[in-house]
Amino acid sequence: MEVIITKDCMTASTAAAKTISKLIRDKPNAVLGLATGSTPLPLYSELIRMHREEGLDFSGVTTFNLDEYIGLARDHPQSYNYFMWENLLKHINIRTENVHIPDGTTDDVPGFCKRYEEEILLAGGIDLQILGIGSDGHIGFNEPGSSFASRTRIKTLTEQTVADNARFFDGDEQDVPRHCITMGIGTIMDARMNLLLAFGKNKSKAISATIEGPVSAMTPASILQHHRTVRIFIDEAAASEL
Ligand code: GLP
Repeated sequence: MEVIITKDCMTASTAAAKTISKLIRDKPNAVLGLATGSTPLPLYSELIRMHREEGLDFSGVTTFNLDEYIGLARDHPQSYNYFMWENLLKHINIRTENVHIPDGTTDDVPGFCKRYEEEILLAGGIDLQILGIGSDGHIGFNEPGSSFASRTRIKTLTEQTVADNARFFDGDEQDVPRHCITMGIGTIMDARMNLLLAFGKNKSKAISATIEGPVSAMTPASILQHHRTVRIFIDEAAASEL
């Protein structure tokens, strides 16, 4: 694990964007795993800037998103599909057919999940997976207790995650979907590189458990200790319990 502690989230996001732009310049048909949440927003802004000002070319890039809420239409403002188009995809020259985001409205969840895994394989596997982390140590929506061998599947959100994510639903926990489709931990571990970002004091416990704690299903991100190529970009607040 390579842990990079920076003063603030902007410095960390700029450094993370450099890792991604280097990959795309070296491998124009790179496969990126994308994450949602507030954490990757400065990183996405930096990638958009690099596209506009430095000609970073996404025309050969393929993307797979980590997760999606079940039951939200693709154009629902809180769906991860909407989030990705608004905050990154519509601002870069990516081909729509190269974008993959789990479909939270499918009426065949197991069939969809199986196909999602097949599509990742067909694309050649994920070169670089971007990850945030939940305050309970989840990655994607792999909540504590998730199997390290898990693949893309349906999951139930924990009460902690529902409470954490209520801020995106005007603070109303009732409106937060209880189920999601998420890549599994096994899917994430298959990525050739993982890049985890965490900012702020409320991530400090999850970060110390991930980096210094025992590898345990109760802190799903701790399995990254066993991944060959992981870069963790954190600010000083997230690093405060290391
Ligand atoms: C959600 C997402 C995760 C994300 C986490 C943290 O639960 N499924 O992928 O890492 O939120 O979100 P934030 O970055 O807003 O703290």
